[in-house]
Amino acid sequence: MSAPEHHTDHAEEVDNKNGFDNPGLPYHRPRRADVDPKASKRAERQVAALFAVSVLGTIVSIGAYFVLDIGDGGDVGTIQNVNMWIGLGLFASMIGIGLGAIHWAKTLMRDHEMVEERHELRSSDESREGAIQNLKDGAEDSGLAGNGVPRRSLLKGSLISALAIAPLAVLVPQIGNMGADWNISKFRHTLWGPGVRLARDPDGALIRAADVSIGSVFHVIPEGLNELDHHHLMTEKSKAVVLLVRLDPADLKVQKGREDWSFDGIVAYSKICTHVGCPVALYEQQTHHLLCPCHQSTFDVSDGAKVVFGPAKRPLPQLPIAVDDDGYIVAKADFDEPIGPSYWDRLKGGHEATVEEESH
Ligand code: FES
Repeated sequence: MSAPEHHTDHAEEVDNKNGFDNPGLPYHRPRRADVDPKASKRAERQVAALFAVSVLGTIVSIGAYFVLDIGDGGDVGTIQNVNMWIGLGLFASMIGIGLGAIHWAKTLMRDHEMVEERHELRSSDESREGAIQNLKDGAEDSGLAGNGVPRRSLLKGSLISALAIAPLAVLVPQIGNMGADWNISKFRHTLWGPGVRLARDPDGALIRAADVSIGSVFHVIPEGLNELDHHHLMTEKSKAVVLLVRLDPADLKVQKGREDWSFDGIVAYSKICTHVGCPVALYEQQTHHLLCPCHQSTFDVSDGAKVVFGPAKRPLPQLPIAVDDDGYIVAKADFDEPIGPSYWDRLKGGHEATVEEESH
């Protein structure tokens, strides 16, 4: 609490210097916690509860990492579940500390109005001593220090607990993952393979080459995908989704070594963005550009889906296609490289991608 009277001299001084009325500081209204010990205690408990929320959040986050095991299957639903609980735990961990500190400052810490005059950069010895005294008073007011006698020990203990364990929510998963055996084959293979027909997403209707007119776009899944159980369907679909586009063959720049990967201007590319994996689905017919809505990476479908703009570093993987005897479009093979974002072991495991390809 402050005593406003001590500002009067200062206000008068400013009046004399500038010749206008200085309204001075508004009347100081003490807060409930300043005048009511019960309110002060209640505020203290609320702050401690917020720090406890932070501690709980950290525990939930670490617990979700260990208890909700993704397992070897690693289906999309489980991964989403684990990520959700880890994220909620981290959110509670951080927001608990933040709100606790704000509530503490607003309800319990010193509430004095202060005026500080502009002055030369170096403060006088007197001001410096005053500043040090203010710091000491602040520490005293916050309950963190005071004459060797611990005050507000509940707040001190809960804050230290929350701050001490909050970093664990981030560190434990990192340490847990060190040396983990990542099964990267999951990223490398999809349901596509020789002879697998291309079907429309989501109804699964097969696609005849004759039905694909120039300029049209199809969202595509492998034939039979919809017959999988829900977990496998989601996992496989997230890797196998493809965008099929028909261009005027004259506009298509056929890539070296991929002369037989398209059919009469029909090309198929993975829909999984090579930046961080959003579905790339916005096709601009005039420019043949495919846009990823997440961070605006843009791929040129007429030129091997090369990146023409944005943060992605690699072209979209191309699915080699052909047409079978019944006129249906089929895959000639799986993708020849892992779909989706880059990762540390991407080149390991014997597929043909070279470092040069990676750097395109
Ligand atoms: S995920 Fe596509 S641009 Fe970032």
